[in-house]
Amino acid sequence: MKLLLTGASGFVGRNVARALVAAGHSLKPAMRGNGVDFRHLLTPADWLPHLAGVDAVINCVGIIGESAGQKFWTLHAHAPSALFRACALAGVRRVVQISALGADETAFSAYHRSKRAADDCLRRLDVDWFVLRPSLIYGRGGGSAELLLRLAKWPLLPVLDDGRQILQPVHISDVVAAVMRCLTAPTARQTLDIVGPERIAFADWLQRTRQAQGLPPARLLPVPYRAALALAWLGRACSPLLRTETVRMLQTGYHADVEPLTRFLGRAPQSAAPQLFFSDTLTTRNPT
Ligand SMILES: NC(=O)c1ccc[n+]([C@@H]2O[C@H](COP(=O)([O-])OP(=O)(O)OC[C@H]3O[C@@H](n4cnc5c(N)ncnc54)[C@H](OP(=O)(O)O)[C@@H]3O)[C@@H](O)[C@H]2O)c1
Repeated sequence: MKLLLTGASGFVGRNVARALVAAGHSLKPAMRGNGVDFRHLLTPADWLPHLAGVDAVINCVGIIGESAGQKFWTLHAHAPSALFRACALAGVRRVVQISALGADETAFSAYHRSKRAADDCLRRLDVDWFVLRPSLIYGRGGGSAELLLRLAKWPLLPVLDDGRQILQPVHISDVVAAVMRCLTAPTARQTLDIVGPERIAFADWLQRTRQAQGLPPARLLPVPYRAALALAWLGRACSPLLRTETVRMLQTGYHADVEPLTRFLGRAPQSAAPQLFFSDTLTTRNPT
């Protein structure tokens, strides 16, 4: 297959690219580095030249926080919707969209609502579509995964309130396996939550991340929700991650039924063994 892969320089994109090449596909990586900037590709006509001869498209572009010029609605909704409509016009048969767990009818953040807008656009089109909604992805080289690895080394672990917000982290190799399965699955038009086998509280995940680095359990530093909101607001100029919406999303916690993914892959996703925190598709079993 000839594939257009957007976000090919990112954590998910790099790992998907490696699996696609290993499986013998012909890859057209689309990145800002080679002139594919979502901020300037906002109509189907902008995308059509990129789709000549392409059989399938995988969209791995996303941001976790906004910054100057990098806006949720442009990157998550308008540009991908234009890409998906171009796919329908160009006769691209299969489209895989990497969305996020929580981009559903409960979504309240601009992050999730903008993703859901593109997901909805794709679901309305006459193409073989897959919307994959991963939870927190861990593994070597992931932005949020590396951040948590650093945070978990602190002598006191900052958590929101009692740190009991539920997560369901999934390893990068299982995300890649799901993407690869989308290329061959006989039944398309599916929305799948991409979650790991275990629901775990945020505080316990931090301790697990610590343990994976050979460190003993650490005491928690509970940060009350209202104080966290205030700190995020005060620190908003320091990092795109410091936003009140990010705090609200963390407080909400996200989890889902793992059974549909297990059926889709033909096996259960992997449990979080310590070595997986430092591995990706290069070092784990063949994700296809
Ligand atoms: N990682 C997670 O835990 C997680 C969980 C749930 C959902 N997701 C979703 O999975 C997708 C991939 O996430 P990731 O972890 O791989 O993120 P990442 O490592 O930050 O990669 C993001 C990708 O988006 C690209 N990008 C950003 N702005 C762009 C623009 N203006 N034009 C074109 N490309 C642009 C980046 O390219 P540059 O190299 O040029 O910046 C990069 O290739 C995202 O949609 C994310 O929301 C991730």
